[in-house]
Amino acid sequence: MSEQAQGHLALDPSTLPERERYHLLTGLVVPRPIAWVSTRSAAGVPNVAPHSYHNVVSTDPPVVHFTSSGVKDTLANVRATGAFVLNVVSEALLEAMNATAADLHPEEDEARWAGLALERAATVDAPRVAAAPAHLECTLREELVIGNGHLVLGDVVHVHIATRVWGAGRVDQEALRAVGRLGGSGYAVVERVRHVPRPRAADLGGPGRD
Ligand SMILES: Cc1cc2nc3c(=O)[nH]c(=O)nc-3n(C[C@H](O)[C@H](O)[C@H](O)COP(=O)(O)O)c2cc1C
Repeated sequence: MSEQAQGHLALDPSTLPERERYHLLTGLVVPRPIAWVSTRSAAGVPNVAPHSYHNVVSTDPPVVHFTSSGVKDTLANVRATGAFVLNVVSEALLEAMNATAADLHPEEDEARWAGLALERAATVDAPRVAAAPAHLECTLREELVIGNGHLVLGDVVHVHIATRVWGAGRVDQEALRAVGRLGGSGYAVVERVRHVPRPRAADLGGPGRD
């Protein structure tokens, strides 16, 4: 049976118009965590902008990445200072986070227009969003250019987390209420967590690894 007969379309992404390819990929790779990146320019102007091309790369050493589509102010600032802070976006900060994606002039401070208070990071040359429930302070490890993406790898050198979301060595997801990006202007809020313990091979009746 062909894929079409099963109710699927077979698409070659290389033949799609770029806008459609963008909507296809960003609508299917969901929900994406949001790196709400705060930086400061060489001239000292603070900057805050969300980046949903973001994830953990390594925990030993602790390394994260976010990707800038083209060269934007955030990337220019990271190149200039070698530092950035990832501010975790909880539901209460969704609108403010979105406001910081506005196309403001590079010399404008997005945080001010979004009504956000910034404070100094503890260890790196970048501000952090005071109201965020957690901050990952990072130093630039490497920038990789892949197509139109500038992948920024950062070493996490300091973590600052609200005690209400950090209990017994684990993040309390129900207290965090993190926001993820879907396609377009859609967002998901983590408000119901299903716990599904990982099975052992024996639970499935299959052979295990040695
Ligand atoms: C939720 C969300 C996620 C975004 N993710 C990205 C991303 O991963 N990469 C990117 O280049 N822009 C992304 N954008 C757009 C940037 O935030 C936007 O272009 C912003 O103005 C860049 O700010 P800057 O020039 O101060 O760095 C996203 C916007 C929103 C609202």
